[in-house]
Amino acid sequence: MKPKNGYNKWAKFYDYIENKMPIGKFKKEAVSHLKGKVLEVGIGSGANLKYYPKEIEVIGLDFSKEMLNLAEKKIEKLNLKNITLVEMNIENIQFPNNSFDSVLSTCVFCTVPNPQKGLEEIYRVLKPGGSAIFLEHMKSKNSFINFFLWILNFLTINILGTSLLRETEKTIRRIGFKEIKVKNLMMKDVLRLIIVKK
Ligand SMILES: C[S@@+](CC[C@H](N)C(=O)[O-])C[C@H]1O[C@@H](n2cnc3c(N)ncnc32)[C@H](O)[C@@H]1O
Repeated sequence: MKPKNGYNKWAKFYDYIENKMPIGKFKKEAVSHLKGKVLEVGIGSGANLKYYPKEIEVIGLDFSKEMLNLAEKKIEKLNLKNITLVEMNIENIQFPNNSFDSVLSTCVFCTVPNPQKGLEEIYRVLKPGGSAIFLEHMKSKNSFINFFLWILNFLTINILGTSLLRETEKTIRRIGFKEIKVKNLMMKDVLRLIIVKK
């Protein structure tokens, strides 16, 4: 399944499943690191919207129109004036170099078809000294855990186009970011909070 089609097809079930995942507190923590003008990539149905302070200016992008429609409804419900949504591909971000103070990505790089390209784009649009905050699940360093991820991966790849075996931390390290801080959060090192600077 192509990820864009997968998320368009299954968007109506996303919030139900997302609400059952015990990672809201980690998303809240990730948002707490954001400053200045923010770009949230792969904003999806807007799971992080409730954590943003009202004074922070946020642009949220996603390539799934159906997911963006869900985010739009949350924006209306919460009466948020500081969030703008755009339909856009992370691999081709339509903003100039050095545009944002912070970039946020939560549970996105398991799905981006060309993660290296997407990360290079994030680097390009970040201002020098700006921070990118990644809350991402990825392949573990533990082979036993990876065996279970490998089995589940058959489902997620076919249904959503999402991989459970991406080596996202390694890819982030290749881009040229500095001051890389990594915190393992769940299932040993499967869910990680990675904070980097340009
Ligand atoms: C698992 S959802 C996460 C949504 C949200 N960040 C959250 O934490 O609930 C992944 C999202 O990334 C989006 N996505 C994946 N690859 C993308 C790309 N190349 N460009 C834009 N959006 C992308 C999908 O459409 C989907 O909405």
